[in-house]
Amino acid sequence: MFRQATDLFKARFGAGPDPSVVSIPGRINLIGEHIDYHDLPVLPMAIQRCVWIAFRPGVDPHIRAVSAGSFGDREFSLASQIEPSAPGDWANYLKAAAQATMRGWEITRGIDAAIASDLPAAAGLSSSSALITGFAIALLQANGIRPTLRELLDVLPEAEHFTGTRGGAMDHAAILASQSGCALLIEFEPLTFSPIPIPNGWSFLVAHSLTTAEKSGDVRRAYNARRTAAFRALQQLGLPSYSAALEAHSRISISRIQGELELAAFRHVVSEALRVRQAVEALRGNDPAAFGKLLTASHVSLRDDLRVSSPALDSLVETALDAGAEGARLTGAGFGGCVIILCTAMAQNRIREQLISRYYSQRDGFDAEKHLFIAEASQGALVD
Ligand code: GLA
Repeated sequence: MFRQATDLFKARFGAGPDPSVVSIPGRINLIGEHIDYHDLPVLPMAIQRCVWIAFRPGVDPHIRAVSAGSFGDREFSLASQIEPSAPGDWANYLKAAAQATMRGWEITRGIDAAIASDLPAAAGLSSSSALITGFAIALLQANGIRPTLRELLDVLPEAEHFTGTRGGAMDHAAILASQSGCALLIEFEPLTFSPIPIPNGWSFLVAHSLTTAEKSGDVRRAYNARRTAAFRALQQLGLPSYSAALEAHSRISISRIQGELELAAFRHVVSEALRVRQAVEALRGNDPAAFGKLLTASHVSLRDDLRVSSPALDSLVETALDAGAEGARLTGAGFGGCVIILCTAMAQNRIREQLISRYYSQRDGFDAEKHLFIAEASQGALVD
């Protein structure tokens, strides 16, 4: 991918000094879904698939970018208020990054940039956050600025709202601060990162459903609706935060919550937060069976309460469990994309074979290399 980005750069922007290159990994979320925006702890890890950006500083505040594949070229000028492109246009990710850096730092030079990626897009693996984060880092570097982790986390989650979803800070934190071989327990109040080694013999298989979840249009509305429903439930209970709800959860009478989505969202958020706590214990105690059960329970809650799963994701989870997985769940926002499957080394081949014969063989476009792979717990972009 490094070569693909630099070759594309030279083909598009011509001869000159070699471009600099930043690479930003994607992530899987092991557990703690749809709760980061309520400031509750989550447990993701960065993976080996990345977005690569080859870039050279420009002389003026102008951006010229090209992406491998069929995405095409985009250009715009830096300004204190950047006009968004049409919803769903990939320029919005670049604009989100540019807007965030303009707000936090003094940026006078734009960049020429070429982007290549082996991270599937719109698949729940944070390709959009990786692009925004990488583009922001490239722009900052081109202006002689080396941002710290906390500085980036102050501006990037907010930047993502430029593209329409009101997500939390999990993705940026995971792709910046994960450590090789570890899951990353992220707590938001206060912000702390605790790497937890993944025991030998645990494998997380990523299976793409071959359906995507573009974070514009319907998915954006559905995502934001879950967030606001859960907030409304809190308000109805007169509670200031979900951490307060967790402390009081055994004494709360949920029958006071009005509205089906509000009640379901509340149940999901509180139960998922409790599962994260138990999952951390299971990981530290090398108990894959307990961890797997929590993954599957998380999927059931996302499917039945929060209703962010899909028949394709459910079918992958069921097939994996039937084939002997310890546990499986959708990862990321849902509505399409990928599931993660916890399997021991012994069961791995059987699970793969069953997924291929029972799921992928019925569908077009499957490429084992791209769509069915073991996630390697990788280093975040700001970790040396
Ligand atoms: C998306 C958002 C994250 C998080 C997940 C769901 O990936 O970007 O902040 O909310 O959905 O857990």
